[in-house]
Amino acid sequence: MIKNLYSVTNIYERLIKPILREDKGVDAECLTNLSLKLLAFCSSKKEWGFISNYLEEIRNELCITDKKLNQEICGINFPNPVGLAAGFDKNGIAANIWQDFGFGFSELGTVTQYGQPGNPKPRLFRISNEQAALNRMGFNNNGADLFLKNFIRQNIKKKVDREKNCLGINFGKSKITSISNATDDYISSLKLLIPYCNYAAINVSSPNTEGLRKLQDPILLRELLKEIKKLPDCPPLFVKIAPDLSFKDIDKICQLINDEKINGIIATNTSLNRLGLENTLIKKTGTLLSEESGGLSGKPLRNKANKIIKYIHNIDKNLTLIGVGGIDSPETAWERITSGASLIQLYTGWIYKGPRLVPDILQGIIKQLNYYQISNIEEAVGSGLLWKN
Ligand SMILES: Cc1cc2nc3c(=O)[nH]c(=O)nc-3n(C[C@H](O)[C@H](O)[C@H](O)COP(=O)(O)O)c2cc1C
Repeated sequence: MIKNLYSVTNIYERLIKPILREDKGVDAECLTNLSLKLLAFCSSKKEWGFISNYLEEIRNELCITDKKLNQEICGINFPNPVGLAAGFDKNGIAANIWQDFGFGFSELGTVTQYGQPGNPKPRLFRISNEQAALNRMGFNNNGADLFLKNFIRQNIKKKVDREKNCLGINFGKSKITSISNATDDYISSLKLLIPYCNYAAINVSSPNTEGLRKLQDPILLRELLKEIKKLPDCPPLFVKIAPDLSFKDIDKICQLINDEKINGIIATNTSLNRLGLENTLIKKTGTLLSEESGGLSGKPLRNKANKIIKYIHNIDKNLTLIGVGGIDSPETAWERITSGASLIQLYTGWIYKGPRLVPDILQGIIKQLNYYQISNIEEAVGSGLLWKN
């Protein structure tokens, strides 16, 4: 009874969910920061008795282990295909915790060379009726030096000495760095953090840093990736792209990714398109979605992000794809995987559905694999197999 009362699911259902239903109430960023601070504290004090006991309870509640879910991708072992998307833990302050919430991997960041405050607040808005969010955070983060200090404080080991905890780090460009100097900015952060990341996500698609998306231009992107690849011990690289690219643009990016032997693509970031919600009111500001700047995430992004995964998988079946955007159920997770994503990530859906979403998705996937008599999830990737009830 007491146990149930303090289960994360119960805390989420009783405390967080009612807040999320009310767009005008507690500020979305404030709520995120509060939860994150609590998790960060636990992450750095894992050895304390009551914290380690509580984390064990959380693991019992949320972690699903099954060989069928295990994949070796680019030399990295992913215990399951569901990851935390970039942007939630921007400074890596809770890097030790995400595996306890059932995630098979987490992508931390975006980190930039220099610390920066991001855009003026408010800059994150719930649109709960649509299970969506709008953000224009602008890469608020403390910079690569402090990111590294956070890892050291949590006693995160270098990847070679680390067991299990699979950490990707997402790299961006500082606001004060011009596009022509962007490469140096990425490289400076990468040099510091390469020893710690199982993979690096090269983010050229966030809509809230002026000019960043220009780096999706094939000539600029090729130059950037070429330089990054020269780094000693360069980890597997994934390029994170925008959902607002045309298929023609995507063709060109796939071509250069192939030429430069980049491992894969993360599709997609948030959208500048309002995806049919132009006339939806943002209750917090009283303005229409079409009148506010920022990137849209969550359910409205789902079909677009799925189409892009399908499209890329059809062009090049050898590229590893990480699917993200609007995944909020076992069915939508299965759809993304069978469209071609080897791995998937959650952000907005995880906020609205709560921590049970991860085990629910994993149990759903296992059921489908059993139904189709598939022994490992790898075989389901890009299979087009439909969800069976
Ligand atoms: C508040 C917020 C902040 C984000 N920050 C980042 C970021 O720093 N870097 C990044 O690559 N993506 C960032 N994203 C994008 C997510 O990683 C993800 O690509 C996008 O939200 C689509 O997934 P979703 O529909 O599951 O939220 C952010 C998203 C949100 C909602």
